[in-house]
Amino acid sequence: MTASTHPNTAPPLADRVALVTGGAKGIGRASCLELLAAGARVFCLDLDENAGTALADETDAPDRFRFLPTDVARAAECEAAVAAALETWGRIDLLVNNAGIQPIDSYVPAHELPEPVWDRILDVNLKAAWLMARAALPAMMSGKRGGVIVNVASVQGLQSMNHVAAYAASKGGLLSLTRQLALDYAAHGIRVVAVNPGTIDTPLVAEAAAAHGLDRTQAEQRAAEAHPLGRMGRPEEIARVIRFLATDDASFLTGESVNIDGGLMAKGAWA
Ligand SMILES: NC(=O)c1ccc[n+]([C@@H]2O[C@H](COP(=O)([O-])OP(=O)(O)OC[C@H]3O[C@@H](n4cnc5c(N)ncnc54)[C@H](O)[C@@H]3O)[C@@H](O)[C@H]2O)c1
Repeated sequence: MTASTHPNTAPPLADRVALVTGGAKGIGRASCLELLAAGARVFCLDLDENAGTALADETDAPDRFRFLPTDVARAAECEAAVAAALETWGRIDLLVNNAGIQPIDSYVPAHELPEPVWDRILDVNLKAAWLMARAALPAMMSGKRGGVIVNVASVQGLQSMNHVAAYAASKGGLLSLTRQLALDYAAHGIRVVAVNPGTIDTPLVAEAAAAHGLDRTQAEQRAAEAHPLGRMGRPEEIARVIRFLATDDASFLTGESVNIDGGLMAKGAWA
């Protein structure tokens, strides 16, 4: 039986401890709020201290929310974040690897991409997911309650567009890592899944649009034309699927990714 068939029972993620990387803004912020609403205790890890502190001030469940300034591309900071969560709440049930970057100077043909830009994108978007999983998995396994890792990949891990070599490679790699971890930790009851957002209304997309000389209206119009549902997605629409994937309602779902893209990946080139 699942929580959803018994609406009067405890919230679906009551008692569970979640780590959300890049949790201070955009999709990560919406995920923190959604997981809190589902009863989880949430450790938000982000580089942006101002945004993280603002979220801590905003939440109506301060006893179940902690912000820790963290660069998840650094192994020692990932280890420290996991140690802090364990010290605070004694367990880890959910890891949302959401932190991701697509810097303005990365929108160039592959032969013009500076090596440091490639390295930073791969470090944040791909290596950090492994670093965080490496740090959190021992606690998940020792708890013997299973666990869930949700990786926030992208439709650009499935299909490509021009001039996003490092970003596309990082997200394709993240989908591969999702399958690999799912296989390796299934015996421990740990599920590993990914989501592939289409264009979602976040600071990352606003910056990318500005870099391409588009104002907000033009960016919205372009997304509306591309996505069959005729608009950009909202961060909450990704967060709600992440919440579902984290609950026992998704108990037989692992090694798979879910497109949350308003139909974008359903479109053929002829559409
Ligand atoms: N917005 C979209 O259209 C879209 C589409 C597909 C996939 N995604 C993916 O969704 C995820 C979230 O994107 P978003 O649009 O919300 O981005 P965003 O830029 O709005 O928010 C990302 C957050 O990650 C944080 N961050 C960046 N580097 C970090 C690091 N090294 N350590 C810790 N925190 C770090 C930032 O400070 C920020 O708070 C990313 O992985 C992105 O690639 C976004």
